[in-house]
Amino acid sequence: MKQAIIIGATSGIGRAVAEQLLEEGWRVAVAGRRAERLEALRAKYGADRVVCRTMDVTQESATELLDELLAEVATPDVLLYAAGIGKQNPDLEEGMELRTVKTNCEGMVRIVDHFINYVKRVSHYGAEHRAHIAVITSVAGTMGMGQAAAYSATKSMQSAYLVALAQLARMQRLPITVGDIRPGFVATEILNPEKRYPMLMTAERAARYVVRSFERRERITIFDWRYKLLVGFWRLIPRWLWERLTMIKN
Ligand SMILES: NC(=O)c1ccc[n+]([C@@H]2O[C@H](COP(=O)([O-])OP(=O)(O)OC[C@H]3O[C@@H](n4cnc5c(N)ncnc54)[C@H](OP(=O)(O)O)[C@@H]3O)[C@@H](O)[C@H]2O)c1
Repeated sequence: MKQAIIIGATSGIGRAVAEQLLEEGWRVAVAGRRAERLEALRAKYGADRVVCRTMDVTQESATELLDELLAEVATPDVLLYAAGIGKQNPDLEEGMELRTVKTNCEGMVRIVDHFINYVKRVSHYGAEHRAHIAVITSVAGTMGMGQAAAYSATKSMQSAYLVALAQLARMQRLPITVGDIRPGFVATEILNPEKRYPMLMTAERAARYVVRSFERRERITIFDWRYKLLVGFWRLIPRWLWERLTMIKN
């Protein structure tokens, strides 16, 4: 039976990935702040298939809780960091900007680094059994976005961090592969329910791309093809022009 740990599995993409893996017969350890949602997953699939811990990734205690999950799921095939927050914040409300940095950057580093050090320490992994570490970043990390400065910048940081980890894993010959998963708009609680978003997809469809990326151990996953095109186009726009494009609102 394959095993995964998903941090940020109470809603949205993380939750949909957890459900898809469980439907496919995986054993899954899940974490997030909303305990009742974790319990609901456990009640649906059974305590032998779902391990859960109530965790806030912005707290130092998150690593102890990760250790507790690892005590029960000793050799996860996949660790998915799906926790994240982000809002449009053109007024630069400082609390929101800083919470975004804490969750998306500090939280990711805390969880991913702790897991890598675990993989280094234990003897379960090797050439035959490598751990795949994946983070849900965003196409928004491609460019700084005026409406969501902290969000776009934290996504950019996440992607750059994963480049560094992929290189470090090769330097140190670690039994680890690294995946950077960059969705476009997905209909989840992170989006503003009062707004309309272009090229929106369901969390279930997003989860299918994510699970396929695990199977292929993809380094970078952008979905769907429309966003691949869009990102390719964005990259051609020079910075001086991008900074003058004031009509970009989403
Ligand atoms: N939806 C989109 O359009 C879209 C597009 C590109 C990228 N993404 C990225 O996808 C990731 C997942 O977001 P989503 O769209 O699935 O939204 P979501 O439904 O709001 O899911 C966010 C998840 O993160 C968890 N989380 C947030 N803060 C946390 C904390 N301090 N500690 C532990 N868990 C925390 C939430 O759990 P609790 O609240 O229970 O803690 C929840 O499970 C995010 O990184 C987001 O930036 C989303």
